[in-house]
Amino acid sequence: MILRPYRERDAAATRAVFERAVRITASANYTSQQIKAWAPVGLDASACRAWAAARAAAQTIVAVADTRIVGFSDLVDRTRLDMLYVDPDVSRRGVGSALIARILSRARDDCATAVETYASLTARPLFERHGFVVIEQLRPVVRNVEMPSFKNARCPRPRMSRRLLLARNVWQELDPLAPRAKLPPSTGRLPKRQEAARACEMWPAAAATAQRLWLMTSKLCPSGSRTNAP
Ligand SMILES: CC(C)(COP(=O)(O)OP(=O)(O)OC[C@H]1O[C@@H](n2cnc3c(N)ncnc32)[C@H](O)[C@@H]1OP(=O)(O)O)[C@@H](O)C(=O)NCCC(=O)NCCS
Repeated sequence: MILRPYRERDAAATRAVFERAVRITASANYTSQQIKAWAPVGLDASACRAWAAARAAAQTIVAVADTRIVGFSDLVDRTRLDMLYVDPDVSRRGVGSALIARILSRARDDCATAVETYASLTARPLFERHGFVVIEQLRPVVRNVEMPSFKNARCPRPRMSRRLLLARNVWQELDPLAPRAKLPPSTGRLPKRQEAARACEMWPAAAATAQRLWLMTSKLCPSGSRTNAP
C-alpha cells in the first residue's frame, strides 16, 4: 500500500470508499436511518462536483493498494483531520492508522500545536489508540437525524504530548474538583506542581491546549474513565 496526494481523477473512487465505509463498516454502530443521513444514496451532478471540490481543497491523502484507492484522510486548516474512511475490504489492516500517522506528520510539518477531529462511534477506538483524547461529546443533526460523535484532540508531536501531560498537571492541581488518584506520572525531578508550572511557562501553546482539554474532560468523564494523553 502507498499513500499519495489526492488527484482530481480520484473523486469517484474516494466517494465510493466513503459510501462503502459508512454503509458497511459504520452500520455496526449506527441505525439505518443514521447511515442514510450520513451517506445519502444517488448524488446529483452538483453534489458530485461539491464532493470533488471539497476533497481537492482539503489536502486529501489517498491510500492505494494494487492501483485501487482503499482509504483517504485529510487535514483542513492545518489543525483538523476532517475525513477518515477505509474500504471495508481492507478493514483492520492498518490503513486507517497509516493515514492518521501521515496526517499527524503533515500537521507537525505545518507547526500545528494540536490536531482535532470529529470521530464517529466507529472510529473512536482507532483515534484513542493514536493518542487522541475525547474533549466533547456531540449530537449533531445531519439531514434531520441525530448522529452521536466525539470531538477529539491531540498534539501532533509526541514530545509536545509529553509536555501536554506535564502542563496538564497544573490544571489538575488548580482545579479543586480534580480527582488526585489519576495523576499522570511525574518525571521525578521536581515536585509535580512546580514541574507543571514550569512546563506551562515554557510551552504556552501546550499549556493552553492542556487547560482546554483538562477543563472539558473533567466535565465530561467520570474520574475513573479519563483517558491520558500519550
Ligand atoms: C474507522 C476506520 C477508518 C478504521 O480504519 P482501519 O483501516 O480499519 O483501522 P486500522 O486497521 O488502522 O485499526 C487499528 C486499530 O484501531 C482500532 N479499530 C479500528 N477499527 C475499529 C472498530 N471498528 N472497532 C473497534 N476498534 C477498531 C483497533 O484497535 C485496531 O487494531 P486491531 O485491528 O489490531 O484491533 C474504518 O473502520 C472506517 O472507515 N469506518 C467507517 C467510517 C468512519 O467511521 N470514519 C470515521 C469518520 S470520523
